[in-house]
Amino acid sequence: MIRVALVPGDGIGPEVLREARRVLDAVQEAGLAELEMETFPHGADHYLSTGETLGEETFVRLRDDFDAILLGAVGDPRVPGNEHARDILLGLRFRLDLFINLRPVRLRAPDLCPLKGERDIDFVIFRENTEGFYTGSGGVLREGTPGEVAVSESLATRWGVERIVRAAFERARAEGRERVTLGDKANAVPHVYGLWRRVFGEVASEFPDLESEMRYVDALAMEFVRAPERFGVVVAENLLGDILSDLGAELVGGMGVAPSANVNPGKHGLYEPVHGSAPDIAGTGRANPMGAVLSAALMLADHGADRAAARLEAAVDRALAEGVRTPDLGGDRTTAAVGEWLARAVID
Ligand code: NAD
Ligand code: IPM
Ligand code: MN
Repeated sequence: MIRVALVPGDGIGPEVLREARRVLDAVQEAGLAELEMETFPHGADHYLSTGETLGEETFVRLRDDFDAILLGAVGDPRVPGNEHARDILLGLRFRLDLFINLRPVRLRAPDLCPLKGERDIDFVIFRENTEGFYTGSGGVLREGTPGEVAVSESLATRWGVERIVRAAFERARAEGRERVTLGDKANAVPHVYGLWRRVFGEVASEFPDLESEMRYVDALAMEFVRAPERFGVVVAENLLGDILSDLGAELVGGMGVAPSANVNPGKHGLYEPVHGSAPDIAGTGRANPMGAVLSAALMLADHGADRAAARLEAAVDRALAEGVRTPDLGGDRTTAAVGEWLARAVID
């Protein structure tokens, strides 16, 4: 039994999570996994009506009563400071110590790649998820005056860097991927990224069977576009990994198809599509639910339901091949129509 907390959130979050749930119901119906699901209301509506972002009681329940959290998206134009989203999403990442943000970049249908020529893209981004610029360290002085000063500090600990780098190498070895690439900016920001380079070098020497390389992130972004098939596992600091993962997503079909897993292996996991709440298309039925469904597949795989996960992935691949697509992928199906099709494909 896998106990799953569903947090639909804002904008297209509830729209894509409804379809992920439909597909998970199908997984159960097909006898592929047993799931117990409970939905949480946290998001902008809940915050605006109650003043609560993520209460302590809810946090404790999410931490103690569930094996996994499946989240849609958080972010709403009515909350311009984004404080509820930070408390919910970043709050869970930090407080559950979900230090790995794993973001697969895999080309599932040839026409989804915007690059010329035949492409074979299949790599994984390991984004550090608890340090860097995201800790909130820093502050603003003399706000609103001409002398205003703002400081955001990027923070790296040897321990924190080492565990994500090691996880990246271990994943590469386990999956038979040949190369681990570090993306950093040690030439311009030597303190933090110098530490990254030292630790990366040390850990790499423990994995002599794997190829390792360090790349400045600007050139790495270029390389993502020029030769994406070179990469196996790409590991990067939080902010750089965030940026690289949208670029990676765009190489293989865009935000609609990109899944992610925020994990502390063996302890906690929060699974979510890479995309946000997409206020520009919310409520139009145009949101692609595949990123959410593939995130559910990552969740199932992490909880021993490998067959169920494989079934979801195969269903998405078939849908793509047969043109069962939302408009972002050149199709004319609605969010719900794609979700229904995937659910049927899982049962068949
Ligand atoms: P976004 O990912 O929401 O949207 C970027 C573009 O991609 C938009 O044009 C959108 O229409 C498109 N898009 C995204 N998901 C799609 C899908 N499933 N199907 C089809 N098209 C899709 O990024 P943004 O516009 O920068 O952010 C909007 C809000 O979401 C902000 O409040 C932001 O902070 C938040 N956000 C949340 C998360 C999260 O919850 N994990 C992630 C990113 C952004
Ligand atoms: C993501 C998002 C978040 C991040 C935002 C919404 C805070 O962009 O999950 O990629 O920067 O981590
Ligand atoms: Mn992002």
